[in-house]
Amino acid sequence: MMNQCTYSFNDSVQETISIPSKITLLEALLEQKLPMRKACINGACGICLVKLIRGNIDYKNRIPRGLNNKELQAGYILSCIAHCKNDVVIQISSPSITRK
Ligand code: FES
Repeated sequence: MMNQCTYSFNDSVQETISIPSKITLLEALLEQKLPMRKACINGACGICLVKLIRGNIDYKNRIPRGLNNKELQAGYILSCIAHCKNDVVIQISSPSITRK
């Protein structure tokens, strides 16, 4: 199954891509050659966070330990363990990108 993901990158570029539900949001964004920051790839460090504006994600029983309460309340999700459940809109901003 495929879902649409519309992402903005530092409030500028906006793209919509199709993501198979079996891969994570981070894997899909890396396939787009976006310089996403990543480290643990298991929801522990929080470095891969993106803001979920619309839609729903599924962590598939994994726990987003890398997010604090403030980030959770603000709608941040961890892209390395998140699978799209439906069409989503996300914002990727400076803290989650690596400068080349
Ligand atoms: S890479 Fe560590 S939480 Fe996603």
